[in-house]
Amino acid sequence: MSNTFYAPGEQRAAKVNDLFARIARRYDFLNDLQSFGLHRLWKRRVANLAQIKNGDRALDLCCGTGDLAFALARQGAATTGLDFSAEMLEVANARKQKVESRKQKNIPHPALRTPQFIQGDAPQIPFPDSAFDIVIVGYGLRNLTSWERGLDEMHRVAKPGARLIVLDFGKPANALWRAVYFAHLKLSVPLIGLLFCGNASAYAYILESLKHYPAQLAVADKMRGLKLADVRVINLLGGAMAINYGVKPA
Ligand SMILES: C[S@@+](CC[C@H](N)C(=O)[O-])C[C@H]1O[C@@H](n2cnc3c(N)ncnc32)[C@H](O)[C@@H]1O
Repeated sequence: MSNTFYAPGEQRAAKVNDLFARIARRYDFLNDLQSFGLHRLWKRRVANLAQIKNGDRALDLCCGTGDLAFALARQGAATTGLDFSAEMLEVANARKQKVESRKQKNIPHPALRTPQFIQGDAPQIPFPDSAFDIVIVGYGLRNLTSWERGLDEMHRVAKPGARLIVLDFGKPANALWRAVYFAHLKLSVPLIGLLFCGNASAYAYILESLKHYPAQLAVADKMRGLKLADVRVINLLGGAMAINYGVKPA
């Protein structure tokens, strides 16, 4: 499995796309299972950090099945979710239809708005400069051929004053905790993937991709390099997960 996804450029992107196509239908279920539901809390934390004002425009990059996009829309943002996987977007759009049909039947639902989902490539976001008040990415940067390029694009489409937020797996500073956590990613996560999704390698990819991703500290450095203000790292579970936050200066 090692190096499977680390072919250069286009080839890597195609492999990542193929991986998400294969797991799309079970993605949400497996997320709940593997994080014991905690990913919902972390995503809620991201949505709260975004400090949405009614009418803000938000972009959820690498939106997948849309968890973060729905959370931002629920708080009143006009939200776009962008992903390159048709299969992940199919699940996102099915969720959206469910919400819309409940609203039509006047069944109470917390969503004020629903996101729009579009297919696109994160290194070339199909929006002009300074288009969004909030630009977030959840578990997405790590998957890109160049995470720096992804962050550059997030910065480009952010308005002055916009919040940029990154949620992803992190690298704990404590060596013992890091070893335990990496062992979990190496052994139990692929096993759960095999048992519940019939696919161990797709879940072994999490550790593989994390080893190639410099995680929260480098993302914070890059944010400082982009001259973002109020750059913060919020470590979760002792740094096993992390949120990076920064504001594009007005
Ligand atoms: C681990 S999922 C995260 C989904 C969602 N953000 C979440 O937090 O649950 C990563 C997503 O990134 C998408 N992705 C990977 N590379 C991409 C690219 N170059 N452009 C757009 N989306 C990409 C995949 O299709 C997948 O849906």
